[in-house]
Amino acid sequence: MVILGAGPAGLVLGNLLLAAGIDCAVLERASSSHVQTRARAGFLAPNTVRILDRHGLADGLHRYGRQHGACEFRTREGRFRLDYGALGQSGMHHVYPQQNLVTDLLGHYLDRGGRISFHTEALTVHDADGARPSVMAREPDGRPVRWAARYVAGCDGRHGAARRALPPGVVHHRHDHGVTWLGLLAQAPPSLDAVGYAIHDRGFAGHMARTPEVTRYYLQWQRGVPADAWPEQQIWDELDLRMRAAEHGPLHRGTLVERGLFDLTCDVVEPLRHGSLFLAGDAASLLAPAAAKGANLAVLEADLLAGAFIDALTRGDAAGLDGYSDRCLTHIWRAQEFTGWMTRLLHAAPDGDRDAGSFFHAALRRSRIASLRTSRSHQDWFAENYVGV
Ligand code: APR
Repeated sequence: MVILGAGPAGLVLGNLLLAAGIDCAVLERASSSHVQTRARAGFLAPNTVRILDRHGLADGLHRYGRQHGACEFRTREGRFRLDYGALGQSGMHHVYPQQNLVTDLLGHYLDRGGRISFHTEALTVHDADGARPSVMAREPDGRPVRWAARYVAGCDGRHGAARRALPPGVVHHRHDHGVTWLGLLAQAPPSLDAVGYAIHDRGFAGHMARTPEVTRYYLQWQRGVPADAWPEQQIWDELDLRMRAAEHGPLHRGTLVERGLFDLTCDVVEPLRHGSLFLAGDAASLLAPAAAKGANLAVLEADLLAGAFIDALTRGDAAGLDGYSDRCLTHIWRAQEFTGWMTRLLHAAPDGDRDAGSFFHAALRRSRIASLRTSRSHQDWFAENYVGV
């Protein structure tokens, strides 16, 4: 088995296959230190923790992660806190930075005797429609090398080789929410004990805990403006303004150690299989970051795919592989729908729609927030979708 990409999807898959005695090799374009330090998501759903627990991969997140079950909405009308972790059957998130999870998964994979080649970029996938697919990759010294396998798992993200290998018949659904976020990593403790969602006429601002020393902030940003256009002082002043710090308490300021731009675009590949090539994680579907679903879906898909590969390779039962795409797509579209709902809840009208639609959009947003504040059944629905995958 050849696995492309050493993110959460590729490394969960690799660990599960090794545990079942299936030989595999992971090809990763970046360096080992890059994948272990790249700041990404950080909110793990209960289902994700259950999967990792079941396979002995959750020791780090139980030791260093923290349970989290509240979000706070801040609007012109005031603020309200939604203790989603205490509602219904949903459960809590674990806050554990994705790079720490990747470090744990890599450690387990190597302990289990797994093979991984860093600095090795998959270029093309060949003969995916047959039973002997292969991957052409570029070794660290630049030499091309061919990896042959019974199956190839494309866990190499949206710009990877797996997507490029799909034939024209595969549909690629794309949607642009029309919003850009400036993502910030601040060397500062969290400023509130909840995820903060601030809805403001000047645009959205978000606060998400990562560790006791590091906090993620987001600012809705004008598309096309570079991430370094504003000095730190101006960014903190804007965060204060949109999060209404004057009313609800100051933000803990600190050095901004990282800035990045995220266009809130999303896509779904359909189907997720082409012969012997299977897609999982961001390679299968990209989600806007508004509802923190990407890493959780990646782990769920890797678990489903591992089970299907194990059935096929150890018992000759291909039913799991045949049903893999449909099963995942049900979860993916559910996550896309909720992420789209969150995105519309949090943002001023998309660029270009500010004049004609802005009053209408703002009024709809206020009505949605009021319903969430006052309706218990709406809160239960939110909790179930926010935490679930
Ligand atoms: N060859 C080899 N490796 C590649 C190639 C290639 N051609 N292209 C990309 N990669 C590697 C990337 O360097 C990366 O390490 O594939 C890996 C994909 O990992 P992730 O981007 O973490 O994707 P995935 O495992 O699907 O996890 C999805 O990550 O970005 C977040 O929001 C996303 O949280 C979600 C999660």
